[in-house]
Amino acid sequence: MIPQKTVQEILETAKIEDVVQDFVNLRRRGVNMIGLCPFHHEKTPSFTVSPTKNIFKCFGCGKAGDPAKFIMEHEHLTYPEALRYLARKYRIEIEEIQLTPEAVAQQQEEESLYIVIEHARQFYQEQLFDTDMGRSVGLSYFKERGFREETIKKFGLGFAPNEQDIFTRKATQAGYKLDFLKRLGLTSQYDKDFFRNRVMFTIHNLGGKPVAFAGRILVKDVKAPKYINSPETEIYNKSKTLYGAFFAKNAIRKTDECILVEGYTDVISLHQAGIENVVASSGTSLTEGQIALIKRFTPNIKILYDGDPAGVKAALRGLDMVLERDMNVRVVLLPDGDDPDSYLQKVGASAFQEFIDRESKDFILFKTNLLLAEVKGDPVKKAGLVRDIVESIAKVPDPFKRSFYVKECARVMDLEEQVLVTETNKAVHQILQKRDFDKRKQQGTQVNIEPEDGTGSPSPDIETLPPPDSYRDARPRTTGHEFQERDIVRILMESGGKMYDEKESITIAEFILGNIEEVLDEFDNPLYLRIARECMQLVLDKTILSTQYFIGHNDQTVSELALDLLHSPWEYSPGWEKRELYLHSQKMPEENFTKDSMSALMQFKLRKVIRLGEKNQQQLKEVQSGDDPGQLMLLMKVQMKLNEMRNDLMKQLGMVVLK
Ligand code: UTP
Ligand code: MN
Repeated sequence: MIPQKTVQEILETAKIEDVVQDFVNLRRRGVNMIGLCPFHHEKTPSFTVSPTKNIFKCFGCGKAGDPAKFIMEHEHLTYPEALRYLARKYRIEIEEIQLTPEAVAQQQEEESLYIVIEHARQFYQEQLFDTDMGRSVGLSYFKERGFREETIKKFGLGFAPNEQDIFTRKATQAGYKLDFLKRLGLTSQYDKDFFRNRVMFTIHNLGGKPVAFAGRILVKDVKAPKYINSPETEIYNKSKTLYGAFFAKNAIRKTDECILVEGYTDVISLHQAGIENVVASSGTSLTEGQIALIKRFTPNIKILYDGDPAGVKAALRGLDMVLERDMNVRVVLLPDGDDPDSYLQKVGASAFQEFIDRESKDFILFKTNLLLAEVKGDPVKKAGLVRDIVESIAKVPDPFKRSFYVKECARVMDLEEQVLVTETNKAVHQILQKRDFDKRKQQGTQVNIEPEDGTGSPSPDIETLPPPDSYRDARPRTTGHEFQERDIVRILMESGGKMYDEKESITIAEFILGNIEEVLDEFDNPLYLRIARECMQLVLDKTILSTQYFIGHNDQTVSELALDLLHSPWEYSPGWEKRELYLHSQKMPEENFTKDSMSALMQFKLRKVIRLGEKNQQQLKEVQSGDDPGQLMLLMKVQMKLNEMRNDLMKQLGMVVLK
């Protein structure tokens, strides 16, 4: 474990701009730096780095944090791993402190498994390249399939010779414990080699470490399976692993799309041809864990199927799960008899790429067409089909996407749109009811905030660590009205365009500005005043406010203020994040417009009203001595109104009304 004082040292030393610039091109923009976000696909930069606050934030996808967080997200590391990365970068020495004996044992055991697997990988590789048998049988096989030597090395391909126990013998002689060999499935219970006379595929984890193997048979033997695999272990969880993910992750992020194929050889072939955003489910249907893994990189998934309609139909069943995750699924049917590898070898890389671009179809529409072809002219079957399609559509969380599908599917199936709308709404309702039921069942025990990627609970390291100093109270303590004005402006820029109330369909900006209309000109800070007036104009023009608008404002002072205010520690505090999640899951109409914002609004108004009241009082005094009863009446009415407003506001804020 890393001692706390070293953690502190690392966090204090790491400079966000250095750390980020190893991966992202940044350019200056006022006090901040800006670049293209590495976490989502974008054409105009919304990824900002604040050297003074030592944090990054993307206004597009919302990712934010300190240098350690950046490394965790970008390199897919745990918190301690990210700290070690930073320590290496800044040459900070880590004196590990003692773990509990169990933790040490656990860690050592995993460490040992990695070491043994790596040894095996080397063994299979040496067999492939450095033995006559390996070269003539294994290497020639790979070469025949078109794999280049660098590809073979990169993917850790190898050869397991046709001998009873050569691997097991050599490994134990070299000091590797038989127990580990067996647990990793490399050695059978009778001390024989598990993989024999097969070409070997190394399976890597997301960090690029070998964790398992698959061995492909070379002879056409109907009795033995074509591929055999390592068992699951502490370091290999099948349902959370995608073959090729380590080699694909950067390309997936860049292209903002993940191509999913079935086989090991498909991944390798496509990769070698320059199509690198590809992973394989290894012959099984997608699991929740695998979907969550893809979703960490992109919401767009393109599935390539071998051209066999029966097989495809079966595969489509599993895909509703992907829809539920709010991912965009496209499917490509390859020509009959070909898999991605064979088709690519046949037509070449560019024709292949063209084909999958041209032939890719939206999953729901594809499914509709496929099923429709089967039920031609049979009304009973068609009714069944409607139910099937509606169930898929209902799984889509985004209502806009849903209504698009309803329209399109109604057209394709030649049905009244209303029929599909009604059916879909029923299905959605059922899903919501079930979810509600599940939730209440859960709440009986405890309220769980599920992490977004659904891969399990967040690492305890992050949870228990106090927030870095830069997040804590960096909010300037100002006096006078500055503070309230600033809050209002921040809310306008941050959430002005969001809906305040779905039912009455007004935005937060409309709500706020409508509320402070009378005191709009009372902003003391001229910059805030300008922004408030501009917001008012936008609202009057029926333009929806957006954060992007202010960040990209051509008035430099406005865009800088936007970045500065939106970097405000408020949004990072754990309490705030939790509250947001809570609100989302509770589906309150205000969504992000929390009590705090409401109180900011009232505080602002209260100050202005009190001041207006004081000014008015002053005028009253002056007029009292004059001889204009009309003016006097007017000012008195204004005074009463202002007092009333003040008292109301104070009551709402829970303050004591004095008079
Ligand atoms: P395929 O039979 O389509 O093999 O199985 P392939 O990937 O095209 O391999 P080549 O081109 O014949 O060498 C697709 C995937 O299903 C899994 C493997 O992951 C394979 O890549 N599979 C298949 C198994 O795990 N075991 C098997 O016996 C067969
Ligand atoms: Mn194949």
